[in-house]
Amino acid sequence: MTPQDFVKELDERNQAVLRRLEPEATLAPEVSGDLNVINLLKVALKNEVEATEIAARWLVTTDDVEVKMAFARQAGDEAKHYRMIAERLRELGFDARLFDPLAKGYGPLFGYLDGLRSTVERVAAGQFTREAIAVVKNRQFIEFCERAGDRVTAALYRDVIEPDERFHHELGRSILLRTATTGEDQERARRAAARTLELAEELQAAALKTAGIHHAPGC
Ligand SMILES: [Fe+2]
Ligand SMILES: [Fe+2]
Repeated sequence: MTPQDFVKELDERNQAVLRRLEPEATLAPEVSGDLNVINLLKVALKNEVEATEIAARWLVTTDDVEVKMAFARQAGDEAKHYRMIAERLRELGFDARLFDPLAKGYGPLFGYLDGLRSTVERVAAGQFTREAIAVVKNRQFIEFCERAGDRVTAALYRDVIEPDERFHHELGRSILLRTATTGEDQERARRAAARTLELAEELQAAALKTAGIHHAPGC
């Protein structure tokens, strides 16, 4: 199929799965225990540092200048998110300089993405799909912050972070339109996107089970 038809189909498949990540129930915040904005922002720091590093690793292992620059832009944005979230944590009374978000190691999604070798798979998984997940999760997190009365964190996500993640998704779309040209490439891209969604669902289920978390923001 044409790259245009392929990307349209991939988008529709992704959106169908993403609807499962956003049932109505996840919008009712469970503020029991330690589920609060500070702890969710600590999860966000880990997501941002992982997203920064994946984009940086990929940027040095491609010869395609447009792809290189897309990953460079993304790495810069994710690092900016990290800094803004750390600043917000400081305002909330938590010093992120004393916190190592990677103390427990990298997560399974990072490991999967790090193993991808072709641009078409990387962009399908890391930008087109992961960033679409981020948009859904950030919408839920904004809702959570508003219900918790934290308008400042909600505004940070709504006005800065979410538009950036949306842009990363669109970068993925434009590169896929150029690189997902053969049936074989399209199939690899499809598999990489599906695996990314699976891992995201598994991570969400695990976070829900161990910590009651279903609002952790993505990137
Ligand atoms: Fe981010
Ligand atoms: Fe992002």
